[in-house]
Amino acid sequence: MPIVFEKVSYEYSVGTPFSKVALRDVSLKIAEGESLCVLGATGSGKTTFALLTNGVLLPTKGSVFVDGLDTADKRVDIKEVRRRVGVVLQYPEHQFFLPTVEEEILYAPKNFLAAEQKELERSLEEALELLEIKKELLHRNPFELSGGEKRRVAIASILSYNPKYLVMDEPLVGLDSKVRSQLLRFLKALKEIGKTWIVISHDVDEFLFMADRFLVFHDGSLAFDGKREEFVLKAFDHLKEWGLYPSTKLRFLAALPKEIASFITDDEKLESAIVSSGLMDCEEVRNDRSFPLDGSRRF
Ligand SMILES: Nc1ncnc2c1ncn2[C@@H]1O[C@H](COP(=O)(O)OP(=O)(O)OP(=O)(O)O)[C@@H](O)[C@H]1O
Ligand SMILES: [Mg+2]
Repeated sequence: MPIVFEKVSYEYSVGTPFSKVALRDVSLKIAEGESLCVLGATGSGKTTFALLTNGVLLPTKGSVFVDGLDTADKRVDIKEVRRRVGVVLQYPEHQFFLPTVEEEILYAPKNFLAAEQKELERSLEEALELLEIKKELLHRNPFELSGGEKRRVAIASILSYNPKYLVMDEPLVGLDSKVRSQLLRFLKALKEIGKTWIVISHDVDEFLFMADRFLVFHDGSLAFDGKREEFVLKAFDHLKEWGLYPSTKLRFLAALPKEIASFITDDEKLESAIVSSGLMDCEEVRNDRSFPLDGSRRF
């Protein structure tokens, strides 16, 4: 199994008055090719989970394995774990440590892959194009960019080395609708070629049709782990308890008979169903930012 959590707990600042158990007894296995969405309210443990996947944090109890490598084993080269698991951090500033955007984007391909100059140029071009990063930004200091530009550079600096497992902590925050749609299309394409990705979000709708499996953290515990169908069926009743917002998509799907809901497998089908049902106001759907569509679509 590519990523395995065995009874993992994580406590910050152990033995101090500020100690905090952020993750409690989490066990799960993530297989190759799975696409996961990790949900949970603020402070539920999502980022802590992400940082445990690549050994930035080591479990205070239990073990994390990446392709059989125990992240806490001193004999394991942690660089090897990070080469396999690329984590886009929630706050891009936490990721930056080099003086220019170009160096930031090329750091991982140079260091993890020992890429040749030609490959470096290609991965830079691809990352710039996908995330619409203007060439004039390349020589700027990443700390001096706008919020959305920082987010795009942070994502580019992980995609540029094509890690085997991609983990993204709230990747859509601060992106305009065009780059947002491009990134979603890109994740969809990655899924089609069997790439394993894990995205973290606190918005139930964002990845509802993108991910196949859903994890919900609640107060440090894994409150739900299952496929989309099960998530749609069960989640609606528990959203408030988990501190999540009862979204338009989920409200609509939960209101449909199960056999009909199972035919709705993407945003376009859902939109058509909503509009033709008359159950919901088109305006309500159009104004719902969680529909990852270009602004050009009109009902
Ligand atoms: N460095 C730290 N020291 C002490 N406690 C921390 C630290 N980082 C996080 N915590 C605490 O651990 C718990 C889980 O935090 P975490 O960042 O994993 O939550 P999250 O689900 O990612 O939240 P958000 O949606 O706000 O990003 C929270 O109660 C938080 O206050
Ligand atoms: Mg977080």
